[in-house]
Amino acid sequence: MKTRIFSTCLAVAAATMLLFTAQTSRAAELKGQLEIFSWWAGDEGPALQALIDMYNKQHPGVTVVNATVTGGSGVNAKAVLKTRMLGGEPPDSFQVHAGQELIGTWVKADRMEDLTPLFKEQGWMKSFPDGLVKNIGTADGIWSVPVNIHRSNVLWYIPANLDKWGVKAPASWDDFFAIAPTLKEKGIVPLALAENWTANHLWESVALASLGADNWDALWSGKLAFDSPEGVKAWELFGKVLAFTNNDATSLSWQQATDMVVDGRAAFNIMGDWAAGYMSTTKKMAPGSGFGWAASPGTGGQFIFLADSFGLPKGVKNRDNALAWLVLLGSREGSDAFNPLKGSISARVDTDLTKYNDYAKSASADFGKDRIVGSLAHGVTANEGFMSDFAAVMEMYLKSRNAQATAKAAQQIAVKNGIGK
Ligand code: GAL
Repeated sequence: MKTRIFSTCLAVAAATMLLFTAQTSRAAELKGQLEIFSWWAGDEGPALQALIDMYNKQHPGVTVVNATVTGGSGVNAKAVLKTRMLGGEPPDSFQVHAGQELIGTWVKADRMEDLTPLFKEQGWMKSFPDGLVKNIGTADGIWSVPVNIHRSNVLWYIPANLDKWGVKAPASWDDFFAIAPTLKEKGIVPLALAENWTANHLWESVALASLGADNWDALWSGKLAFDSPEGVKAWELFGKVLAFTNNDATSLSWQQATDMVVDGRAAFNIMGDWAAGYMSTTKKMAPGSGFGWAASPGTGGQFIFLADSFGLPKGVKNRDNALAWLVLLGSREGSDAFNPLKGSISARVDTDLTKYNDYAKSASADFGKDRIVGSLAHGVTANEGFMSDFAAVMEMYLKSRNAQATAKAAQQIAVKNGIGK
């Protein structure tokens, strides 16, 4: 696949190569501003700041404007970005998930520049895994530079607390249902949950456990209907899991749900491994002894992946500065400065693992051997249209708890947004 994408891009690449080379070789003289847009604010900021610090050193003449819009998984940032893109005011570079969030949204709308020449210039054609390249490229080009690989299906806990309560990390949902009532009796929330996007996040882990990887993939290729018996079953299991979550979820950020686990108010949380970044970088906790992890129940041997990337919108104000930013993001040094703080693993195949902690080392080993599937909640499997409709479907489920009706609604939005087409 990778070879096919790359060879089709070759002709275009050759034509624009000179242009890119000239631009990036003038890097030392760059001046003016660079506006980068993301949702990595506050506790999510340190890894991005490490990259900005490197950029400032490399390009002292450029003022970096770090435009962030707070809100986990980009719930608020994506709305602001849409307004800016449609209004002809694109940031110089913006955070976007590899997969349909990029391809089925911004590339489809013809808003991005093809970065094939940059990939060739930087020698990146073999620097990223094939599965990831598929999610940033089409037959017409390569559309963003990936900075990381995050895992979505991770169960987090504090080993000392589990020992104290006499429970073990559940390998399956049945294991979880066996210990959850006991935890509840002790006044401990079995599973901490936060605002609504984290319900989508939890749903994908539960749905994968219920459906299995083949059926998960079949949902997104349009081969399995969301309102099939298998699809309905996933919502039913989700409902059973929700019964063991906190009542104040909608008012909490993902970090506050993690805090519930850290403080011993909750036993577990299912969150992407930015939670490892939060616990190790912000909270200074040691992976292994301070906090523990396992694949979310029923998903052992499976890795729900997502990747943050940055692209170059058409018509930006500071194109050369943005290209230099992308050069840094795709480099081994940039990647290995960013990811150890972020909780993710490098998107590159030549990462220096000695720079990473034990959590990241285990994630990296799993990525090498697990069955890899794409994340819905973080842009891999579905476009923005489906995602925003899915948020409404989730709201509906949280209110009605009607698995059958919700599965039907999910199928309707799949058809409407061309899932599997
Ligand atoms: C994801 C993103 C992560 C992290 C998380 C929480 O969508 O890929 O890097 O920022 O949201 O906000």
